[in-house]
Amino acid sequence: MTRDSGRSVPIHIVGAGGLGRETLDALFARGCERDSLVLVDDHVVATELHGVPVRRPDDVRDGLFVVAIADPGTRRRLATRMLERGLVLTSVVHPRATLAHDVRIPAGCLVLANAFISTGTRLAAHTQVQYNATIGHDSVLHEFVTVLPGANVAGNVVLETAVTVGSNASVLQGLVVGARTFIGAGAVVTKNHLGDRVLVGVPARDRGAPAGMAGAVTERP
Ligand SMILES: CC(C)(COP(=O)(O)OP(=O)(O)OC[C@H]1O[C@@H](n2cnc3c(N)ncnc32)[C@H](O)[C@@H]1OP(=O)(O)O)[C@@H](O)C(=O)NCCC(=O)NCCS
Repeated sequence: MTRDSGRSVPIHIVGAGGLGRETLDALFARGCERDSLVLVDDHVVATELHGVPVRRPDDVRDGLFVVAIADPGTRRRLATRMLERGLVLTSVVHPRATLAHDVRIPAGCLVLANAFISTGTRLAAHTQVQYNATIGHDSVLHEFVTVLPGANVAGNVVLETAVTVGSNASVLQGLVVGARTFIGAGAVVTKNHLGDRVLVGVPARDRGAPAGMAGAVTERP
């Protein structure tokens, strides 16, 4: 539990799916008590999970929050909704993530276990680096970037707003990937790409705009 002027401040995890429960696990690993945590979801299937209450977004008022949803557009929409309700954005970093001494974690970020973020890297608000993902030195991750489990972003890479790097994908050093592009699982990105594309394969090929790929981006941030 965090304390603000002696008052307990609950942490709300928005999204009670798999990523929400992984975020809960990161907070347990940080020593947070169950009574300081709240899961928030529009689709409440149980009143509690792992001893933590589950509430609807309209039923929460005060405290801190982080959005545990991988899709960048949904993440932005839910963050706006929580901010409008007066909650304050925070970040969650698993204690077994490794961050270089000069890496700063802005509000809204989520960094899961065994993630590695190298020196000189800059993360913007609302970025996610999920478990076992690695970010090389001097890379820049703009707002709402999502790096899914096991992905490898090499050094000096720029991922523009709301890029998603799929599970086990790689982005080679020095490249720029345009906003909202979705890199499919296992792809190897070997050259610069514009925004609003879906890239798959080795080397990564442009499969067109995300609208044609149901599993890519569901809401435009
Ligand atoms: C790229 C991606 C977004 C496409 O999703 P989709 O729109 O549902 O695509 P479909 O499953 O309809 O596949 C469309 C075509 O692309 C191919 N394809 C899909 N994903 C692919 C991938 N990662 N690499 C290579 N080819 C892929 C399919 O085989 C299919 O080819 P076909 O037309 O020759 O049969 C998705 O497959 C993907 O890789 N998502 C990332 C998943 C991930 O990392 N999850 C981690 C969760 S923790």
